[in-house]
Amino acid sequence: MTSLILWAVIGYLLGSVPFGIVITRMLGLGDLRQIGSGNIGATNVLRTGNKPAALATLLLDSGKGAIAVLLARALAGDGAALIAGAAAFLGHLYPVWLNFKGGKGVATFLGTLLALDWRLGLGACAIWLVTALLTRISSLSALVAAALSPLVALWLDGPRLALVVAFMAVLIFIRHRANIARIRTGTEPRIGKKT
Ligand code: G3P
Repeated sequence: MTSLILWAVIGYLLGSVPFGIVITRMLGLGDLRQIGSGNIGATNVLRTGNKPAALATLLLDSGKGAIAVLLARALAGDGAALIAGAAAFLGHLYPVWLNFKGGKGVATFLGTLLALDWRLGLGACAIWLVTALLTRISSLSALVAAALSPLVALWLDGPRLALVVAFMAVLIFIRHRANIARIRTGTEPRIGKKT
């Protein structure tokens, strides 16, 4: 039990590093929360026009979820890995450093899934990519991937992982409320476009 709490804390702290903000600040690209959607993720970093910065944000935000899972699994087993991954995801959404106002969690979700079960992670990335190729809308791609991932997890791994993935998927939907409203009115910007 103590070990699980410890891995929850380690996962949370890893997940709470807001790489989008760190990178855009380091590069002098301005305050990410005043740009585009105001979100701290890679999609919004892309709106600064700096593609390498967006790619770095994507890799680091997904990497922190994956590292949390892989570290916990190597040192404490599968249960700790699941807790650390979910905690990293929550850390990205509710980082103590930003008064608990974090991101939408998509990259961290994908990185966590890749490390929990690479087949599930690849499946979720493939769903994101296909939807993005068809619609050019990042948020819609994330929502479709989030909605289908618990089913893929249930099919590949069983109810325990599916339940944790479903919990993360619900939070992704909650965090995308403004995006969902824009998708419904046809005003959600396409990938790379500012408005
Ligand atoms: O990964 C976040 C994405 O789904 C939406 O980002 O900036 O368009 O709200 P944004």
